[in-house]
Amino acid sequence: MSLATWKKMAPAQAAPERFVSPLIRELPPSGIRKFFDLVANTRGVISLGVGEPDFVTPWHIREACFYSLEQGYTMYTSNFGLPELRQEVGRYLEAGFGVRYDPLAEIIITVGASEAIDLALRAVLEPGDEVLIPAPCYVSYQPCALLAGGRPVTVPTRAENDFKLRPAELEARITPRSKVLLLSYPNNPTGAIMTREDLLPIARLAERYDLLVISDEIYAELTYDGRHTSFASLPGMQERTVLINGFSKAFAMTGWRVGYAAAPAPIINHMLKIHQYTMLCAPIMSQKAAIEALRHGREEVAQMVREYDRRRRFVVQRLREIGLDCFEPKGAFYVFPSIAATGMGAEEFSQALLEEEKVAVVPGTAFGEGGEQRLRCSYAASINDLAEAMNRIERFVKRHGS
Ligand SMILES: Cc1ncc(COP(=O)(O)O)c(C=O)c1O
Repeated sequence: MSLATWKKMAPAQAAPERFVSPLIRELPPSGIRKFFDLVANTRGVISLGVGEPDFVTPWHIREACFYSLEQGYTMYTSNFGLPELRQEVGRYLEAGFGVRYDPLAEIIITVGASEAIDLALRAVLEPGDEVLIPAPCYVSYQPCALLAGGRPVTVPTRAENDFKLRPAELEARITPRSKVLLLSYPNNPTGAIMTREDLLPIARLAERYDLLVISDEIYAELTYDGRHTSFASLPGMQERTVLINGFSKAFAMTGWRVGYAAAPAPIINHMLKIHQYTMLCAPIMSQKAAIEALRHGREEVAQMVREYDRRRRFVVQRLREIGLDCFEPKGAFYVFPSIAATGMGAEEFSQALLEEEKVAVVPGTAFGEGGEQRLRCSYAASINDLAEAMNRIERFVKRHGS
């Protein structure tokens, strides 16, 4: 059969999509992105949707980048990342969270925490291995687990337990195929935290069932009720933990794309191979800026945290006045109120709120199970915008009969 005849016979097959693997074809696009295409086309919107600081990276950190360029730092770095940066990260983790790593063997600098999550999953998963993921959760976890050949298994967390992971809920979902527990506290989207006491029984389960724990601690600096406990700092846990963190949230450096993973050398070395063949390294100018952030950025972090805290208290109070049940977040910069009182679903509510009142929030469904009647609102926005957004939400809820 000639090529022309074949093309006529199978027009659908001939479409360029036939080249795309079934796994990727089946993968749904991020619920956040889908929603934000809508936002981009609507004028005068107050957005409480984005998961990034509204602050600009502190000036001296930006200056460190300019200076590195002036000095001609435009090349690749070691695949591991700049040694000075790894040393700073090592000092930071020890001073801040009581975990001690060999900076030159156990820490790798990545293109954001995002790459570190991907590397960790790809380095450890075999086809069909199960990844236990407390939900609601960050939008990337389930797709990344699937892309790495794993099988995501949701472990529900609930408002009545302050969205903490309960040991019994976790244990009920452990099977002989369970390999990884993906923890993320402080949590996006719920704002939940896990204290040392909360984490200890989880650590015992990790030990009993020999789970590797990938602990995404990207919001570790943003806590409002005591200092964050790093999972790796619990007795016996460092050897089974991949600790992930980065600069995006604490230092307002989302666009710089720099993060890191810390883990025992035998795990890091295998993650490094994937990084080596795919990314090579994080951008050198971002790594230079990150060194400055760790050396001299503490005061700005503290200032930003104070400001987030003020906004957090304001937003929780307003949402409760409006009649929306709202768990008080203890970390990160999101609130996750229930809209059950309105009788509306999350997508319906978010879409109508955007159209009628020009306020963008993310429907809770974007974060998996447990988000059906919830919204994620980021309070990484100015207090004036937050005040106006709350007034608009109030009007909307009244109109739709709370
Ligand atoms: C829980 C969580 N982990 C990781 C990331 C991505 O971080 P990075 O910008 O360092 O890739 C985000 C961003 O929203 C997040 O919320």
